[in-house]
Amino acid sequence: MTIKPLIILPDPLLRQVSQPIERVDADIRKLAEDMLETMYEAPGIGLAAIQVGVARRMLVIDISKEGDEREPLVFINPEIVRSSDEYSVYEEGCLSIPDYYAEVERPASITVKSLDREGREHLTEADGLLATCLQHEIDHLNGVLFIDHISRLKREMVIKKFTKASKSKL
Ligand code: NI
Repeated sequence: MTIKPLIILPDPLLRQVSQPIERVDADIRKLAEDMLETMYEAPGIGLAAIQVGVARRMLVIDISKEGDEREPLVFINPEIVRSSDEYSVYEEGCLSIPDYYAEVERPASITVKSLDREGREHLTEADGLLATCLQHEIDHLNGVLFIDHISRLKREMVIKKFTKASKSKL
């Protein structure tokens, strides 16, 4: 397993729309392992392939509590097939926007259709943190970031800060 470098705001890759995975093969399984390792190392609770520079529709999640046994989840070509009318608010963060957190409102429960690492189809009923995390990561596959769900003023401030930081590193 390999820990991959994370793509950080304002890298334009984060705005790219990821492509569907046509065949779940050994390369895809290896990428899933690497993504999980990278997420655990960060540490984070979710990671989309584009955040390690791969524009394919795959994400990994583990929302188990610290100290508990790991519960790695892999979603390939995830698709939201149902969203609740009810909304909930969570404070979100993102490994590609380090140390920035903001409250985001999203549907409280969703159903997601996806493939697992063996290429089998699954329907996942999610609510609470898992619902939020899935929606956040699926957004990444469409080039959308959680800061797109906050006020324009706050978003512009964050982007400005990260743009400045990236320039000072050159
Ligand atoms: Ni994120």
